[in-house]
Amino acid sequence: GNLLPTITDRKTQENLNLAAHELTTTNNAIGFPTETVYGLAGSALDDESVKSIYRAKNRPSDNPLIVHISSRDQLSRKLNCQEIPSIYHKLIDEFWPGPLTILLPVDEKTNISNLVTANQNTFAVRMPSHPVARALIAISDTPIAAPSANASTRPSPTMAEHVYHDLQGRIPLVLDGGNCKVGVESTVIDGLCNPPMLLRPGGVSLEQIKQVGGKEWENIIRAKKTAGKNEVVRTPGMKYRHYSPTAKVVLFVNCQDGNTAISKYITKHQLQGKKIALLRSKYFEINENELGIRVVRDLGTKASDVSFNLFKLLREVDELNVDVILVEGIEEDNEGLAVMNRLSKAAVETIDGENM
Ligand code: TXA
Ligand code: MG
Repeated sequence: GNLLPTITDRKTQENLNLAAHELTTTNNAIGFPTETVYGLAGSALDDESVKSIYRAKNRPSDNPLIVHISSRDQLSRKLNCQEIPSIYHKLIDEFWPGPLTILLPVDEKTNISNLVTANQNTFAVRMPSHPVARALIAISDTPIAAPSANASTRPSPTMAEHVYHDLQGRIPLVLDGGNCKVGVESTVIDGLCNPPMLLRPGGVSLEQIKQVGGKEWENIIRAKKTAGKNEVVRTPGMKYRHYSPTAKVVLFVNCQDGNTAISKYITKHQLQGKKIALLRSKYFEINENELGIRVVRDLGTKASDVSFNLFKLLREVDELNVDVILVEGIEEDNEGLAVMNRLSKAAVETIDGENM
């Protein structure tokens, strides 16, 4: 069952009511926490609410939004979507509520704003597990369209203050639900095509999908990063510049000897004297003031820790007005796949230690 968590704290309850009131009586978009990243919420059923989401974060309107529900019955009762294709059953039994987004077909009967789907014949939906997110959706009894609550192109927000930083003056409120536990966005999958497709790696890993999904999912393929001539981009969101701090991000892969790789890079690009930050993980043992590096932060060594810390640390070192952020890449398995997907989009350059 998808039982709702009970929120007993009175202040939280009051704030939830305030936010639900804003959602149901105005067209304003509001910030709210999910277990992945903070979202920017508006009713998925109402064009004006969806317009204010795109406006607040300055998002291109051809990039569709994810619909968030708090119970499966909202799919039929609110969106008039009567059944979920069987290919998804095992996956949503296991991962809902949680960071898994599925595509469902849109037909004439589907009750959803065309602006949510950017006029595609599918819509994306997930059931978040964060208690505040689910309570907000349940209290307002409204399916919520929500992209990540960052200004377009910036790293996604994993704390309420990140949302405030990017969107202050543009939205009336942010519900503060603490740090997002997952730290990267949900996994987006398409089970309507054959073979099924991974459109965006995220909080549920490819390994978990293959393990739990059943036979059809053993052949899941990854969407291409860029579409060829005459091909449609399958995840419109992925074609845009993304996850970028102001400083230039340089990603290092296959470099177990971090010192050598970085010192070569600094010399080659004449970065001596520039303000350099390093985000390191397992192998880079470089310290502050070595090689002229001014700021060092630890992403953690476990992939789930790197996922939790990544966007927060990119934002944190960016606030220190560094010129360059050097980042130690991690292995692309389990949670590492989503982390490396976000990093390769944030980076202007990737340095491969195996052919420097
Ligand atoms: O974890 C998350 O998914 C967060 C939280 C707030 O729930 N939301 C999020 O939304 O990351 P956004 O808008 O930043 O990313 C949604 C992604 C985009 O890449 C978009 O192109 C894709 O989902 N998408 C949405 N609807 C789609 C559709 N019908 N077909 C293909 N891709 C779709
Ligand atoms: Mg986003």
